[in-house]
Amino acid sequence: VSKKLNLGCGYRFHPDWVNVDFIKTGENVIAHNLLKGVPFPDNEFDAVYHSHVLEHFTLADGKAFVQECYRVLKPGGIIRTAVPDLEQIARVYIMALDKTANGEPGWEANLEWMRLELFDQMVRMQSGGEMKKFVAKENLENEAFIYERIGDEGKNLRKMMLEKMKNNNPAKTQESISPAKSPVSFFTRLKNRLFRKEAQRYFSNEKFNAIGKFRLGGEIHQWMYDRFSLAKLLRETGFSEIKVCKASESRIENWNTYELDHREGNVFKPDSLFMEGVKK
Ligand SMILES: C[S@@+](CC[C@H](N)C(=O)[O-])C[C@H]1O[C@@H](n2cnc3c(N)ncnc32)[C@H](O)[C@@H]1O
Repeated sequence: VSKKLNLGCGYRFHPDWVNVDFIKTGENVIAHNLLKGVPFPDNEFDAVYHSHVLEHFTLADGKAFVQECYRVLKPGGIIRTAVPDLEQIARVYIMALDKTANGEPGWEANLEWMRLELFDQMVRMQSGGEMKKFVAKENLENEAFIYERIGDEGKNLRKMMLEKMKNNNPAKTQESISPAKSPVSFFTRLKNRLFRKEAQRYFSNEKFNAIGKFRLGGEIHQWMYDRFSLAKLLRETGFSEIKVCKASESRIENWNTYELDHREGNVFKPDSLFMEGVKK
């Protein structure tokens, strides 16, 4: 019987798979920090799958992570990865921009939403960020568009937000402090030193620590991929036969019975780029 691994499974896992996440999200889930590697021996699995996980790592950590996936796969084993599709997001953003510029009714809100898709999950300093606020609006004029973009997750988020509408104070923006340029005058250096002290005091306060912890806590997107950069990453790791797939299309045996990317034609994450490769 084939061995299959679902990494960063969150709440989407199947008992026939070995499932791993930071948090033990279910009985069949192993709690492990994937930044420390994939906790299995070489050549162990027939398939490794991860959905909306890779973009949560920095470019360098992502590369190391995919190398780990390669290591634990058997020769001939399949990697399947799903990430938010940078190309698709960028294209819909441009389309929304053009439609807004042409005065097409309703598109300004869609354009605003696409800006959130592009940036919010990279820059937010609090869980949910601006997206959460957007979907919690009482009059959400582009509800259908948002559900078309992010599927039932958007629907559930809105439902949850409306149920427990609390007022969040937006996080204060942290100004970045650039290092002093030399040569500089004595007074500039003195001023900079005092300023740096002040900055350190500010940075060591609780709020800053909380933001730092949040930013490294797994919710943030640290990078984004399109069909070229993801294929390149897989190719450079050693994978071959790299292909873009549909949610329901896979070389993993019985893929559609596991309902990891879709169920009855409903794609869980419609904003995804699905890609597979084979270990040589
Ligand atoms: C956006 S969710 C995707 C969950 C699921 N794969 C899906 O498609 O619905 C990202 C998941 O990756 C997990 N994750 C992020 N960084 C991780 C790490 N360093 N180690 C283990 N899991 C991690 C998070 O806990 C979270 O469950």
